[in-house]
Amino acid sequence: MQDSNDPLARYRDLFHLPDGVIYLDGNSLGAMVKTAPERIDHAVRQQWASDLITSWNKAGWWQLPVTLGAKIAPLIGAATDSVVVTDSTSINIYKALHAALALRPDRSVIVAEQTSFPTDLYMTEGAMADRPKLQRRLIGEAGQGVDAALDENVAVVLLSHVDYRSGALLDMAAITQKVHAAGAIMIWDLCHSAGVIPIELDAANVDFAVGCTYKYLNGGPGAPAFIYANQRHHNHIKQPLSGWWAHAEPFAFKPDFKATGGIRAFLCGTQPILSMTALDAALDAFEGIDMQAVRNKSKALTSLFVDLVLESCGKYGVELFSPKDAAQRGSQVSFTHPNGYAIMQALIARGVIGDFRQPNIIRFGFSPLYLSFEDVRNAAKTLFDILASGEWDRPEYSQGGAVT
Ligand SMILES: Cc1ncc(COP(=O)(O)O)c(C=O)c1O
Repeated sequence: MQDSNDPLARYRDLFHLPDGVIYLDGNSLGAMVKTAPERIDHAVRQQWASDLITSWNKAGWWQLPVTLGAKIAPLIGAATDSVVVTDSTSINIYKALHAALALRPDRSVIVAEQTSFPTDLYMTEGAMADRPKLQRRLIGEAGQGVDAALDENVAVVLLSHVDYRSGALLDMAAITQKVHAAGAIMIWDLCHSAGVIPIELDAANVDFAVGCTYKYLNGGPGAPAFIYANQRHHNHIKQPLSGWWAHAEPFAFKPDFKATGGIRAFLCGTQPILSMTALDAALDAFEGIDMQAVRNKSKALTSLFVDLVLESCGKYGVELFSPKDAAQRGSQVSFTHPNGYAIMQALIARGVIGDFRQPNIIRFGFSPLYLSFEDVRNAAKTLFDILASGEWDRPEYSQGGAVT
């Protein structure tokens, strides 16, 4: 595929892309849609400043978590009422783990990945902290060893659909089926796949799923996350953060908690309306989108980058860390190099923005909505220039910042 026959080319104009920048970090923080500032401005000046508290009804603030959930639902193959936007992914993992454990009270094992994004592991620790009988069974990278880990003691399996470091993509339907065959509950972390890979949560019969909205969904820094529950669980979602937004009658202000039915049961307290407003604007870009076209372009972009980089930069010690086969990876490409950190800083100084993950991984994310094939060629050329000239070896490029 080339820019001249890219069916998604028109989407680029929806985004604010700074001059001189090739942005390959949409897997960390997506680019801003051009409408975000005016939508936030309206929420601040009109809905907050002028309409004040009436906006909870008049502007639909109270319903915003489910309104936004319904916009995300078609992107992840979920029924409209099965997704809610709220809290962070970490908090939603915690809630999903508890909901899953409550469905399997006689079982005692959580299966998770040793190398998953650490917060997923930290949250399993949190879930275990007040349940002394629980144990954790850690499997290898990208779902390796999941079969051996499954037995009649496993209550829940928590896996990332796309690995945050390598970009390896797991077979959601096949793994969910195996987990169910073992009688366990399946939770998927969709942080690195939502908005960039066609996902079929309902068809795959997944139990729960969580994901970020600030990556490929472009919701903005700290945009709230989403959580999905299969409809068959909607009437018995038990989660530990029993706040008033999940109450069956929140405005009755009763002293005892009584959970609402449906996906709202995953809410806790008052939601960040301004952040949700930015996300609302971002999700408009996805209206009616063909996720298969997004996936096709994503595969073509990442494949082009892999080919160009291996061809021109292999001799400088750059090695592919992501799966070589596009069907096996998400929308990111990672390479290793002993001087990865400095190389990434040199790239960023030249306007090619990716990121670095310990110990030696340089990571590039490809958002098909706003990247062109020309961007990919230019980024690969810049990487080659930096390696061939030794430019990365300047002292300023080895100084670390708090965020890598
Ligand atoms: C796979 C994965 N899970 C969870 C998180 C954490 O999300 P949050 O900081 O929104 O809780 C991230 C963040 O990058 C992630 O990549």
